[in-house]
Amino acid sequence: MVNVVPALLPALVPLATLLWIRAADHSLSISRNKWDHEYDYIVVGAGSAGAVVANRLSEDPNVKVLLLEAGGSENTFSDIPLAAATLQMTPIDWAYQTEPQETSCFGLVNRRSRWPRGRVLGGSSVLNYMLYVRGNKNDFDQWVEKGAYGWSWEEVLPYFIKSEDNRDPTVAANGYHGVGGLLTVSSPPDATPISVAFPKAGKHLGYDHVDINGATQTGFTIPQGTVRRGARCSTAKAFLYSARDRPNLHVVTFAYVTKVLFNEFKRAVGVQFDRFSLTHMVYARKEIILSGGSVNSAQLLMLSGIGPRDHLEAHGIPVIADLPVGKNLQDHIYPGGIHFTFEGKYSFVQRRIVSIPNLIAYFASGRGPMTTFGGVEGLGFINTKYANKSADWPDFEIHMVSGGPTSDDGQTFRRVQGFTEEMWQKVYEPYVKFDTFSMYPVMLRPKSVGYIKLRSSSPYDPPIIDPKYLTHPADILSMVDAMKISIAVGLTPPYQAMKARLFETVFPGCEHYRIWSDEYLACVARTYTATIYHPVGTCKMGAPWDPTAVVDPELRVLGGVKGLRVADGSIMPTIVSGNTNAPIIMIGERVADMIKGVNLPRYDGVNVPPGFKRRSNENDIDEFFGDDDFKR
Ligand SMILES: Cc1cc2nc3c(=O)[nH]c(=O)nc-3n(C[C@H](O)[C@H](O)[C@H](O)COP(=O)(O)OP(=O)(O)OC[C@H]3O[C@@H](n4cnc5c(N)ncnc54)[C@H](O)[C@@H]3O)c2cc1C
Ligand SMILES: *[C@@H]1O[C@H](CO)[C@@H](O)[C@H](O)[C@H]1NC(C)=O
Repeated sequence: MVNVVPALLPALVPLATLLWIRAADHSLSISRNKWDHEYDYIVVGAGSAGAVVANRLSEDPNVKVLLLEAGGSENTFSDIPLAAATLQMTPIDWAYQTEPQETSCFGLVNRRSRWPRGRVLGGSSVLNYMLYVRGNKNDFDQWVEKGAYGWSWEEVLPYFIKSEDNRDPTVAANGYHGVGGLLTVSSPPDATPISVAFPKAGKHLGYDHVDINGATQTGFTIPQGTVRRGARCSTAKAFLYSARDRPNLHVVTFAYVTKVLFNEFKRAVGVQFDRFSLTHMVYARKEIILSGGSVNSAQLLMLSGIGPRDHLEAHGIPVIADLPVGKNLQDHIYPGGIHFTFEGKYSFVQRRIVSIPNLIAYFASGRGPMTTFGGVEGLGFINTKYANKSADWPDFEIHMVSGGPTSDDGQTFRRVQGFTEEMWQKVYEPYVKFDTFSMYPVMLRPKSVGYIKLRSSSPYDPPIIDPKYLTHPADILSMVDAMKISIAVGLTPPYQAMKARLFETVFPGCEHYRIWSDEYLACVARTYTATIYHPVGTCKMGAPWDPTAVVDPELRVLGGVKGLRVADGSIMPTIVSGNTNAPIIMIGERVADMIKGVNLPRYDGVNVPPGFKRRSNENDIDEFFGDDDFKR
C-alpha cells in the first residue's frame, strides 16, 4: 500500500488540476469576437476598478455596457497565490520601468524600478499579492478636506462592505465587514510559525494584535487576502465571471484602446481600439469610463488631447482640455535589506515548497503553502518618531515575508526586481541555502512626488515614468526610523526563540558606513529601493475649481469635457495608507452609484470661490459650475 501511493501521485496531479479547472470560475470564456456599433457605456480596462464598474452598470438589463481590455484571460497558474511574483515579465504584465532614479534604486539595473501592471482580465488584481487592506479613515477624510466631497470614511465604508464576502467568521462578525458580496476575502488557512510569531512580536513593541481593517489600524496582524478556496480571487473572477450570463454586458479582450473620440462640443462620443492589428471604433450614447490604471489612464487621456497643454503640443497632439494629467504621481516604496536567518524549516523555500503533496493540497482542497499571499504573512502598521501617535494614522506598514530574495535561489525576485549582479552577489548569494524571513517597512505617505509623461504620440511607446523616489529629505529620515523598528521586531523574544539573526552581508556602496548605523540604513534604502506596486494620483480628483484636479468628485473629467470619467487608482488625491486594491475596488463601487445617480456627494459647508455660483440644489455638483468652462 505505502509504496503504491507515490506511484499514483504523478497521475493525481493532472487529475486534481482538471477537477479544479472545472470548478474554477474562469473556466468558460467570457470574451466575444463580435460587438455592436454603439453602447450606453464603454468601460476601458478590466482591472480592479473597471471590472466593478462594468458589473454594476450592467445590473440594469436595459443598459448596454461594453468592457474593452487590452489583455486576455487569467489561468490556473495565475490563480496560485504563492506564484504571484512569477507572473511578472510575462505576457500578462505591461512590464513598465521607471526612468533612472537620482537618489534611489542604486542597486537596481540602470537605477530603474520595475513596474509590473496587469494586462489581463482582472488587471493588476491578477498580479498582486492579494493583501486585503482598506487604508486609514483619515486618508479619506483628508480627501474631503482637500475638496473631494463625498469620499469621507463614513461615505466610503459602505462601499468596501458592499463588495466583500469575508469568509472568516471572527473577522466578519466584528462590525466592520461584509458577507455575501462578490469579492471573497479569506484568512490564510495554514499560517507558518513565522507568521504566528508576528503579532506576538508586535506586542513586545507595544502594538496590539488588531484587525487592521477594523476599529483601529495601528497594530500587528496576520493579514487577510482576496482569496477564494485557496486560490486568487481577482476582480475578473469576482465581478465579471459572476456576470457572464448578462446579455447586456459585452467583454472584448485583446482590445487596446488608443484614443478617446470627441465631438466638436468636447463630448466624448466613442473610442478607437486596436485588436489583432485591425483598428475599430465604437460609440457610447451616455458615457465612457477610463479604468486603465494610474499609468495607462494618464497616457490615454494625453494621447486623446487631455493633459498639460505645452506637453501635448510638444508631441503635436491637438488639445481638447489643458489639465494636469500625469502629475501628482505617488507610490509606496520599501527598503530591502532587513532579512533574518533562523533555525527551523518553515519559510517559503521554493526548492522545498514546490512539491507534489503541496500541489495536491492546493488543487484538491485549497490548503497548504501554495495558498499564501505571495509569501506575505504579517502586516504591522507602526508609528515612527515622525508620526502622530495619538491619531491612529501610522506612517509605515511592515510587510513580513516568510522568505526573501534568496528563497527562490535567485530565479525570480532578483530578475523581476532588477537586482544588479553586484548587489545579488555581495548581499544575497551567501544566503541562498538558508531559511529566511524579511521585514519590509512600506512608507505610507511619501512626500516625494513624481510624474508620468508621454514618450511620444504613439500609443505603443510606454510612457515616461518618474516617481522621484526618496527625493524629499523627510522621506529618508522616516524610512531609517522605520527600518530600526523593523529590525527590533526580529529581535523580540518570539523571533529570538527561533534564533533569528540579521544578515551580516554589507550592501555595495555602503561599505564605508558602520553597519546598522543611521547612515548605513539610509544607504541601504537608497540602494535597494523597491516599489510595492501602488502608483496612484495621476488623474487627481478634486473640487471643480482646483487647478491641480483632473476629475471632479464624481470622477468626471474637468476642463469642459463631457461624457468622460476616470475610475481607477489614478484619481486618488493622496495615496491611501495601505495597499491599494481594496480602495480601488471601492472607487469602482462608489463611481458606479454616482453614474446611476445614487448617493451623490453632499456639499454642505463648502466655500465656493468667486466665479462658481451655488444654485438651487446643494447636493448636485452641477450646480457649482458657474463658469462656462465647467458647464456640462
Ligand atoms: C505585483 C503587484 C502586487 C500587488 N500587491 C497588492 C496587494 O497585495 N494588495 C493590494 O491591495 N494591492 C496590491 N497591488 C496593487 C493593486 O493590485 C493595484 O493598485 C490595483 O490592482 C490597480 O487597479 P486599477 O484599476 O487602478 O488598475 P489595473 O488593475 O492595473 O487595471 C487596469 C486595466 O486596464 C487595462 N488597460 C490599460 N490600458 C488599456 C487600454 N488602453 N485599452 C484597454 N485596456 C487597457 C489593463 O490591461 C488592466 O487590465 C499590487 C500590484 C502589483 C502589480
Ligand atoms: C495628533 O492627533 C490628535 C488626534 O487626532 C490631534 O488632536 C492632534 O492635534 C495631533 N497633533 C498634531 C501635532 O498634529
